[in-house]
Amino acid sequence: MVKIGILGVGTVGTSVAKILQENADIIEARAGRSIIAKSGVVKNLSKKRDVSILLSDNPLDVVNDPEIDIVVELMGGVEEPYQLVKQALSNGKAVVTANKALLAYHRYELQELAGDTPLMYEASTAGGIPIIGALRTGLSANHVESMQGIMNGTCNYMLTKMINEGAQYDAILKEAQELGYAEADPTFDVGGFDASHKLLILASIAYGIDAKPEDILIEGIENITQTDVAFAKEFGYEIKLLGIAKKVGEGVELRVHATMIPQESMIAKVDGVMNAVTVIGDRVGETMYYGPGAGGDATASAVISDIVDIVRGNHGPMLGYKKGLESRLKLLPKEEIVTQYYLRLEVADQSGVLAEVTSTLGEFGISIEAMLQKPTADESIAKLLFTTHKCKESQMQEAITALGRLAVVQGEIAMMRIEK
Ligand code: HSE
Repeated sequence: MVKIGILGVGTVGTSVAKILQENADIIEARAGRSIIAKSGVVKNLSKKRDVSILLSDNPLDVVNDPEIDIVVELMGGVEEPYQLVKQALSNGKAVVTANKALLAYHRYELQELAGDTPLMYEASTAGGIPIIGALRTGLSANHVESMQGIMNGTCNYMLTKMINEGAQYDAILKEAQELGYAEADPTFDVGGFDASHKLLILASIAYGIDAKPEDILIEGIENITQTDVAFAKEFGYEIKLLGIAKKVGEGVELRVHATMIPQESMIAKVDGVMNAVTVIGDRVGETMYYGPGAGGDATASAVISDIVDIVRGNHGPMLGYKKGLESRLKLLPKEEIVTQYYLRLEVADQSGVLAEVTSTLGEFGISIEAMLQKPTADESIAKLLFTTHKCKESQMQEAITALGRLAVVQGEIAMMRIEK
């Protein structure tokens, strides 16, 4: 019999304990041994919980318990779980974690420390979708050309409502929080940080890239307005918060940002709180993985898949490749990213202004693809909306700074990237 200890018996931990009990027959048949949740750790012992396992408020009761074979870490945060996972590994216990932030910062140290001891993390990225398994195993014959993911359900829910129902940002954020998907601090969701943690995990498996969140381009959905939504509709785009990884020569672009994508693309049709990841492999072509990115049972389903793999002896190297044989691809600097852009700016509605704006873009080598001018409630101000042909991020950033200095340009300039 295999015994599990759970650090953090909240929504997901409770589901893990229950599914191990309620689906014990199928889980034993698949793992080849019976698996039980023995004990768990909570912060507040007086809070009533719907589980029938031993509870303690001291994580060491699980981590140092010689009877526990596998420690499941569902605490959240970074430093405390990092210390506890290290301790569990040094006690020879296998570890399963759903903690994306822990992995975004410490996956390479943990891989080193784990050595041949299993350390698995299917639930860390896109909840119930088996994307980690797909990348580590299912696609292992492929060089990954690119990946695009909707990996934050809160943002996808908000954008879907803003686009389909014209909902206002603040009201819809509150609704998303009530649905229980949002992080304790929703800035992690709407600012793109949660998605960046997941992208970094996928990029390690696909490309062996050792980067931290602060090394990559991360933007959220905070500045999207109904003007952008209307423009996107008119020009045949959906707006999604995407995590994007793209191999360019010997480098890899990694970025998280609101993105205009063609309405007819598969990922554009992923609505509400659902997540999806598309992966293009050099041999398999495009594959897509879709499903719930959070929620108790969905996340627990991924946690238990790791437990079953460990019990089967199926775990393999943590990041999916043997140390020393990882790819030699490098993270491209943010400035080197090449894509198309959408720009929104407010200008004085007077003669010569359009020429001034377009010639500024031209000075930085930026070519305009499409343009729309919209009147505003204030007759003296017009909105200019552009899409550009591909250019480098550095060109675009310099052009935005120069546009901002023009006397005719009023207020903030908004920018969104376009992927076709
Ligand atoms: N806050 C996350 C989301 C939860 O909205 O998708 C899953 O990581």
